[in-house]
Amino acid sequence: MDTNMKTFSFSTARKIIFGLGAVKQLSEELQNLGAKNIAIITDTVIGQSEILDKVVTQLREGGFKYTVWDKAETEPSVAGGEAAIEFTRKGNFDGVIGVGGGSVLDNAKVSALSITNAGTLSDWLKKTFQNPPAPLVLMPTTAGTGSEVSNAVAFSTPQGKAVLFSSLMYPSLALVDPEFTMTTPATVTANAGVDTFCNGMEAFVSLNATPITDAFALQTMQLVADNLREAYACGDNIEARKNMSLAALLGGLAFGTAGTVLGHACAYAYSYPATSIHLPHGYAVAITTPYTMEYNAIANQTKYATIAKILGEPVEEMSLRDAAFQSALSFKKLLYDLDIPASIRTTGVTKDMISTIAQNVFQSPAHVARNPRKVTEKGMVRLFENAYEGKLDCEQ
Ligand SMILES: [Fe+2]
Repeated sequence: MDTNMKTFSFSTARKIIFGLGAVKQLSEELQNLGAKNIAIITDTVIGQSEILDKVVTQLREGGFKYTVWDKAETEPSVAGGEAAIEFTRKGNFDGVIGVGGGSVLDNAKVSALSITNAGTLSDWLKKTFQNPPAPLVLMPTTAGTGSEVSNAVAFSTPQGKAVLFSSLMYPSLALVDPEFTMTTPATVTANAGVDTFCNGMEAFVSLNATPITDAFALQTMQLVADNLREAYACGDNIEARKNMSLAALLGGLAFGTAGTVLGHACAYAYSYPATSIHLPHGYAVAITTPYTMEYNAIANQTKYATIAKILGEPVEEMSLRDAAFQSALSFKKLLYDLDIPASIRTTGVTKDMISTIAQNVFQSPAHVARNPRKVTEKGMVRLFENAYEGKLDCEQ
């Protein structure tokens, strides 16, 4: 036994149900939770889809009262979160269901918190809330964020991204029905799928990684490596969709405790006021990640060599150092196959923005603190210069 092993703990959603057709268990589960008057939080796309019909059918058959709020924004603002709270408090609900992508689920989390806590989202961002949420069921419709099992929400503010996290925020139930992802458009499948990989990978290399999170992180990355290209190429591939949903769930379990690191800090760095480049979350993570992988590779060569192996590289034939750097090259191949560019130039970033974006990385101090390599401003400038040119140092 490794006597140096640190003490660790693990928390997540109180219950997880996963599987094709799992939505059919919703009514029984709500009964167990004792909720009778339900707020359904979603967006306009899901609100008009068969997915919502399936959810509503369950509530009708179970004799529940419910009201649908379909105004959740993509990449939600604090004002959007406050609107969800206002709706929830007016309706005197005693339970919340979130049906949608990560942004919708984040809105559902604050909605459920507003039933049991005084104050507003802006208040909680300054001084966190005191009580766990009302009964909360989260049903993801994309295979991506893992928000259904995490204890965090992210909202945009005029000053940039605001993240609220608390061990009290875990939902009562994560109900993952992979059928809900069957109609996800190819580009969203690609962005969310790469985000899933990065959630697992960053948790794996995080300084807060534990044996429990490593187990989830390794399986997350393997499932994405084996299924994302297939799910992107043909959205009807139910096996690939199911495996991507599982990957997203396991990724959430990994980063919910270990946290994400530099890749996510860099992805957030584009959106602050001086540059104001707003990109879908998964896309922002994806286009920057080859460069954060290269930056971090020397900090934990064994883990980065493992990542290269998972991505299909013949690492047995390489030195440990070469195998570690191969992970970044291999990740670029994944982006290529998913039609995601590997240069930030395509996003509206200009050369004169690079030093500002590099400084913005430090606006995510928790991500920076648990990153395996010390993060320096000089290092970040170099990283974003490479990301701009679309070239890794190890391929120059
Ligand atoms: Fe993410």
